[in-house]
Amino acid sequence: MKSMNNEIRNISPVDECQLIDLPKIEDPRGNLTYIEGMNHIPFEIKRTYLIYEVPGGATRGAHANKNLEEFFIALSGSFDMIIDDGRTKHKYHMNRSYFGLFVPRMQWRHLENFSTNTVCMILASDHYCQDDYIRDYQEYLSRRKLK
Ligand code: TYD
Repeated sequence: MKSMNNEIRNISPVDECQLIDLPKIEDPRGNLTYIEGMNHIPFEIKRTYLIYEVPGGATRGAHANKNLEEFFIALSGSFDMIIDDGRTKHKYHMNRSYFGLFVPRMQWRHLENFSTNTVCMILASDHYCQDDYIRDYQEYLSRRKLK
């Protein structure tokens, strides 16, 4: 039997992280999930990259982006995302391919606790630009005028 759940959420431009459920078409031949820019996630997708073959105990991220918006999905396995807006920290456990975490601009993030064989897919609103990165936490806080 085919069914669709988790239909499109009303997504307006947001400046906070949010978990977003994706369409999931269940099928005895295997389930199917799809993502449309400006529909399921609030930006047009200009780039996709993967994080995989992460050694035990390794962490990724530890930066913020000045303008980039991203959407993180655990395609397989699991990991934790720690989001720090300079005031509070939230931990999100990512372990399914039918939901993801939208991370707007200017959010400090790091990824940790990767399970074996995790594949994390990231959809990004722009091409890679080193100048868009803030890799110093104190600089991040001062740019948010929170220091
Ligand atoms: P980085 O953003 O530091 O990874 P993470 O935040 O997950 O720890 O990127 C690691 C390296 O990969 C760095 O040399 C830049 C390069 N890179 C690209 O060339 N293109 C990309 O799209 C990304 C995400 C990274």
